[in-house]
Amino acid sequence: MINVENVKRTYIAGDLKVEALRGVDLLIKKGEFISIAGPSGSGKTTLLNIIGCIDKLDGGKVSIEGQNVGDLSKLEKAAFRRNELGFIFQSYNLIPVLSAFENVSFALSLINKNKKEVKEKTLALLREVGLEGMEDRRPSRLSGGQQQRVAIARALIKNPKIILADEPTANLDSHTGEDILKLMKEMNEKHQTTFIFSTHDRMVMDYARRLVLLHDGLVTEDTVKEGA
Ligand SMILES: Nc1ncnc2c1ncn2[C@@H]1O[C@H](COP(=O)(O)OP(=O)(O)O)[C@@H](O)[C@H]1O
Ligand SMILES: [Mg+2]
Repeated sequence: MINVENVKRTYIAGDLKVEALRGVDLLIKKGEFISIAGPSGSGKTTLLNIIGCIDKLDGGKVSIEGQNVGDLSKLEKAAFRRNELGFIFQSYNLIPVLSAFENVSFALSLINKNKKEVKEKTLALLREVGLEGMEDRRPSRLSGGQQQRVAIARALIKNPKIILADEPTANLDSHTGEDILKLMKEMNEKHQTTFIFSTHDRMVMDYARRLVLLHDGLVTEDTVKEGA
């Protein structure tokens, strides 16, 4: 469903040229739970941003569900992101003045005017991610792990086909990070959502069913773990 073909991305800052991606090929199937791993600077964020239609590519092609995303206008890309993709960030990126409930329901409430439906779906998801009883709390009254749970529910609320998570556990202690990975895997299985997450952490890599290693903008390893 996601086809990344010979993707290149070069950043130019002044007279400095950085080849962040030097020809990446990757075929991702529906429902995969896949980790893009590699050291800092290897191109993980660039690759996720290109798949997420946030960054542009300088060479090659990315198609998602048969749609060549390079053919989309800026507005079409924004609509594509809204309708097909969910995002989870390292620093959670919740809206501080909104409660957990409101952070999760917000995007859905813009497209679904049936308040009862929105409420039920939001409460059900908050329950699924283990936050029952914390619906009214603002992010400042939640731990890092709890905030990331809110972010996972928020990413899932519109049933996206794909969730992109850039280093989702980087700000969490290893125990909490592990809980978040377990939760993401559970959501991947339950909702059949494709999860693509990046990490530089060995423990996190071990959770992936498929591990793609990036090094200096190239895929150096791509392995599927049997039975994981
Ligand atoms: N906006 C940018 N301008 C210039 N260089 C960038 C920019 N974004 C990333 N880079 C460079 O591209 C390379 C890959 O970065 P990135 O994709 O962020 O890697 P990672 O997420 O694996 O740490 C790095 O050398 C980084 O410094
Ligand atoms: Mg990064």
